[in-house]
Amino acid sequence: MNPLNKLIVLTLPAVPKLIVGHFAKRYIAGDSFDDAARAVRNLNASSMMATVDLLGEDVTTLDEAIAARKAYEKILSAFEVQQLDSNLSVKLTQLGLKLNKQFCTDNLVEILEVARQQRNFVRIDMEDSSCTDDTLEIYRSVRRLFDNVGVVIQAYLRRSEVDVCELIKEKVNVRLCKGIYVEPEEIAFQGQEEVRENFVKLLDLLLRNRCYVGIATHDDTLIGAAYGMLQSMKFDRHEYEFQMLLGVRHDLRSSIVQSGHRMRIYIPFGRHWYAYSMRRLKENPQIAGYILKSIFTRDRAA
Ligand code: FDA
Repeated sequence: MNPLNKLIVLTLPAVPKLIVGHFAKRYIAGDSFDDAARAVRNLNASSMMATVDLLGEDVTTLDEAIAARKAYEKILSAFEVQQLDSNLSVKLTQLGLKLNKQFCTDNLVEILEVARQQRNFVRIDMEDSSCTDDTLEIYRSVRRLFDNVGVVIQAYLRRSEVDVCELIKEKVNVRLCKGIYVEPEEIAFQGQEEVRENFVKLLDLLLRNRCYVGIATHDDTLIGAAYGMLQSMKFDRHEYEFQMLLGVRHDLRSSIVQSGHRMRIYIPFGRHWYAYSMRRLKENPQIAGYILKSIFTRDRAA
């Protein structure tokens, strides 16, 4: 671990919540759905789509999981009423995955039904490797019933090529990202170049099989590679999208949109932002470096 990032992570708990909040603000829309709706509206006005995530994974009771499901249903209705161009990103541990797999699946099905009525779409985020098998299994089971659902593949996982080869048979709608959790070498590529190479390989496989891909990265090298593949395989702009996180690389996202590609921004919101930020920082101290960088650069959130 980079010693500076390590130092930031170690000292963060001593930093007043107000100060952490000042920097988290860049990456999180706010406490309430109104904050998220405002962020979606701003993005829509700049020709970008959104995907909204209600913070709060790893619930510990079934009641919390039911509350999360109800909150997601309300969010879907608000998208419709307020005519916001946004879909949902959900984490299965928030819907009860670690408590009861069948209960989690049923909870997800209820969200998917509401989304289908509103012609909206739900993306199942991919969490750490303890969830990969269950997440793919639940995705497959709901995909048989719904076509408004997609999943995420993490390029750093060694297993992902096998998973992609299986998923392309079902014409999967996939978000491809590098992967954010710290995973052991046995299961995940560790080097930046290895992860990039695998990302390119998986993207090529998915696009060649005409799967819809959410190309989720802020990495110039990967975006350049994606441009090349999309052009040579003659993709129409509605057959894929780029995706980025709220608050990250506004320069890049504008240039992608200006080049005629569609862009969707991931918008986390919710009261649990502090616990979420601290957990993310502990899981992956590299993010601490990004935060430090954001303090000193001019690429500020709009
Ligand atoms: P990389 O980390 O190399 O970043 C490239 C450059 O972008 C950096 O040099 C830096 O300038 C900038 N940057 C990247 N992340 C930043 C940040 N947080 N703050 C500030 N600057 C940053 N992961 C996962 O495991 N499961 C999931 O479901 C998802 N979902 C998801 C959705 C969307 C829309 C995105 C964009 C990403 C995810 N991720 C994710 C996270 C993903 O796996 C990955 O950790 C980050 O996107 C960072 O990887 P990059 O490809 O951007 O490269």
